[in-house]
Amino acid sequence: MQFSTKVAAGDRIRTACLVVPVRGGQADAATRLLDAAARRRVEAAIASGDLADKAGATLLVALDDERLPRVLLVSFGDGKPVAARTFLEATRAAIRHVAGTGADDAASLLHEVEVTGRALGWKIRSQVLIGAESAYRFDSLKSRKDEGKDKGPRPSRWTMLVGRDEDREAGLEAERAAAIADGMALAKDLGNLPGNICTPTYLADTARRIAREHKLKCDVLDEKQMRALKMGSLLAVARGSEQPPKLIVLHYKGAGARQAPVVLVGKGITFDTGGISLKPGAEMDEMKYDMCGAASVLGTVQAVAALGLRVNLIGVVPTCENMPSGRATRPGDIVTSMSGQTIEILNTDAEGRLILCDALTYVERFKPAAVVDIATLTGACVIALGHHNSGLFSGDDDLAAELLAAGREMNDPCWRMPLDDEYQDLIKSPFADMANIGGRAAGSVTAACFLARYTKAYRWAHLDIAGTAWKSGANKGATGRPVPLLTRFVAGHAK
Ligand code: BES
Ligand code: MN
Ligand code: ZN
Repeated sequence: MQFSTKVAAGDRIRTACLVVPVRGGQADAATRLLDAAARRRVEAAIASGDLADKAGATLLVALDDERLPRVLLVSFGDGKPVAARTFLEATRAAIRHVAGTGADDAASLLHEVEVTGRALGWKIRSQVLIGAESAYRFDSLKSRKDEGKDKGPRPSRWTMLVGRDEDREAGLEAERAAAIADGMALAKDLGNLPGNICTPTYLADTARRIAREHKLKCDVLDEKQMRALKMGSLLAVARGSEQPPKLIVLHYKGAGARQAPVVLVGKGITFDTGGISLKPGAEMDEMKYDMCGAASVLGTVQAVAALGLRVNLIGVVPTCENMPSGRATRPGDIVTSMSGQTIEILNTDAEGRLILCDALTYVERFKPAAVVDIATLTGACVIALGHHNSGLFSGDDDLAAELLAAGREMNDPCWRMPLDDEYQDLIKSPFADMANIGGRAAGSVTAACFLARYTKAYRWAHLDIAGTAWKSGANKGATGRPVPLLTRFVAGHAK
């Protein structure tokens, strides 16, 4: 779907479907943009009572005009400002309704609705992100493509009609949101690809492609180089697999060399069987999504590069597969991480932190302004927060506030979790500097505490996206989160 903004001029509008909000029984825009005959049709449709008052209800009105064959009325209740969530749901319903008609393009006036605590930019961005979400298909592995694939998802164009004084800001916001949507689509594609296709090598090739397309520097470290760096923890996870591990480093330089870079580190376990601490079989296929942190880093670097933001950004992806084999790490094995700290691996299924800790030590060399790691790290985080908020962990209140605000503004929320030193006691080991698991209590917190031991050299935050990176059930699939949050956060560091 292509998104743009346009200044609405008089009643000369030409579109296959005009999307009009109805508030308190009034379609205000209709009086401005429709001719008398069309206006009567719309008024009669509203008067008929076929459009429910409930926000998000929709009614399609056919007009006898080839320049404007349809109007979609979208109910927003009684005319008071609506809640953000109401606006999002109504927008979703409207786009779904348009997609079910023959309309190949639509022009929207939804942002004329007043939304509590939200400005124009948010309303524009929300339409773009919801539109892109509804247009997304993952059918590259089906021999018979999903219906309508040849024509592409409909509508193919979504134009937002704004006032003359709004056009600059709205246009810029639509452009930004479209780049973010593309980054999300990349992250979704990578997440949805199965483990036999999306291997560490595949992720590295994808990073190299992004680098080629946007003229970025991309280094991919192989096993030998990781051994030279003494990444004993990452290599302990990779041991059981036939797939060679990689450490991907993607540099985007949008600001002068003196500006310290923002560094994003994404967990890239391309399949997590649990290793010798093997997972149970039910839904194990979903562990192909265990590289969604990595995917969100690649999607964000792509979006930031596409927008040419004036910021320095480094995306880092430690990636391997977690498999059992005769060579695999056993529970009880003790390894030495790149930092020199030793780890007793009590459970080989707590592998995410083991690959992240070496990557987090590696990035010290970049003297970062801030480091954020993103990982499908713990089932415990899903129990704590469900599927709405990502878990945010940071000892730095300012950095946490930046990430919370970015998530809120992008409808990609996170919730701050505790990281008190008291929890560190839970990962003590009698034989090594630390164990890689605590007990059942506070599982997502002890995982974050483990990472905290490797991030003392810079400002750091951790996002646990185990509950937000993909959906299970009938609409199974990667969500592309938290690309919107991350892109907004990085943009906040631009000059
Ligand atoms: N990738 C999983 C976390 C996960 C589990 C994400 C389920 C989404 C849904 C991670 O590597 C893992 O297995 N974590 C263990 C840690 C435990 C052994 C301390 C978990 O959460 O069970
Ligand atoms: Mn695991
Ligand atoms: Zn995992």
